[in-house]
Amino acid sequence: MIDVAALDDLAVGAPVRVDVDGRPVCLVRTAGGVAAVHDVCTHAKASMSEGYVDDGVIECPRHGAQFRLDTGEVVTPPASSPLPVFPTEVRDGRVLVDPSPSHPHPFSD
Ligand code: FES
Repeated sequence: MIDVAALDDLAVGAPVRVDVDGRPVCLVRTAGGVAAVHDVCTHAKASMSEGYVDDGVIECPRHGAQFRLDTGEVVTPPASSPLPVFPTEVRDGRVLVDPSPSHPHPFSD
């Protein structure tokens, strides 16, 4: 697990881009913890951390594809490939991310 942020620095529902072992990762604090998805949209490479979060879903800022934060699954096109997700843990006020994604990213892994 890699220490990437202080929990107190994350506002609920406000995505933040961090580097995890050379990969761009989008962190989102939720009511129940912290989600981590690959920061590169699987449609046309927009930065997901510039997108919008609502009810467990993150929306890409470029063309509006939506992905579930817990699984990376596509909820709304135009994306068709899921976002890789990363396990997270909060320990002593720090956010830790496992650098191994759930699956390879179609563009960058
Ligand atoms: S780049 Fe994300 S929906 Fe097109």
